[in-house]
Amino acid sequence: MENNQYIKSKIHSNREFMKSTFADEGYESDQQKQLPQPSLTKAPMSNVTIKLNREFSSLIKEPDYLKLVQERKSHRVYKKESMTLDQLSFLLWTTQGIKEIRGDNYATIRTVPSAGARHAFETYLAVLNIAGLEKGIYHYLPLDHSLEFIAKVDNLEDKVSDSLCEQKFAAKSAVVFYYSAVPYRSEWRYLLESHKVMLIDAGHVMQNLYLSCEAIGCGTCAIAAFNQESADKLLKLDGEDEFVIYAAPVGVV
Ligand SMILES: Cc1cc2nc3c(=O)[nH]c(=O)nc-3n(C[C@H](O)[C@H](O)[C@H](O)COP(=O)(O)O)c2cc1C
Repeated sequence: MENNQYIKSKIHSNREFMKSTFADEGYESDQQKQLPQPSLTKAPMSNVTIKLNREFSSLIKEPDYLKLVQERKSHRVYKKESMTLDQLSFLLWTTQGIKEIRGDNYATIRTVPSAGARHAFETYLAVLNIAGLEKGIYHYLPLDHSLEFIAKVDNLEDKVSDSLCEQKFAAKSAVVFYYSAVPYRSEWRYLLESHKVMLIDAGHVMQNLYLSCEAIGCGTCAIAAFNQESADKLLKLDGEDEFVIYAAPVGVV
């Protein structure tokens, strides 16, 4: 009974968080306090980087936009076939690629929209079957459209499954995209409202991933049922200033 009341009041306050009236009246953001802006992207963590191609015209199998939108669906069965590095490059570009930098490193303009162009996400990959790439964890460096190798992981398939609440289909994909949030990039301007807009922004990224996959003969499935602790541990995230918020296995379909 007590528990019930607790949940009801939690639900009520979470609903408030969804409304436009949910604001931070009377509080100054760090931007208003003229505190330094956080960096636009996470700095590279290694000096081993893989430059990615940005010429995609030969990859498109389905150019009919209406067909792409109508036929988009969640795919949970993938062929054993490996994906190419160019296909992976295309998916990274269309989900987080940087088209322009505004001002004096003030904002990135990307292939997806983002509230205030804060773009508070980082993209990590558990590479399982990409031709020419060693299995392991990678991090996307959107400023120069390249990948960096983060770690080789023993029994990667098991750890991917574990990180995604034993949704075993994901470990049979060619690559699992993990999106982390670096909340301060948005909190710096939007304080408490930042958390809502970051989650809205994640939807834009995922929809581009779905449609881009469909365009090149691949498929994906959004995953919000993940294990926070094991997903963060797999990607070596601190779980406080950066943590996983969304994932998506991708494979040939
Ligand atoms: C935010 C979000 C979280 C989701 N999480 C999961 C998940 O953890 N596991 C899964 O198999 N599907 C997940 N899905 C996929 C949905 O089940 C799927 O989109 C829905 O059933 C509609 O099917 P469709 O995408 O084929 O239209 C998720 C989708 C969204 C948008």
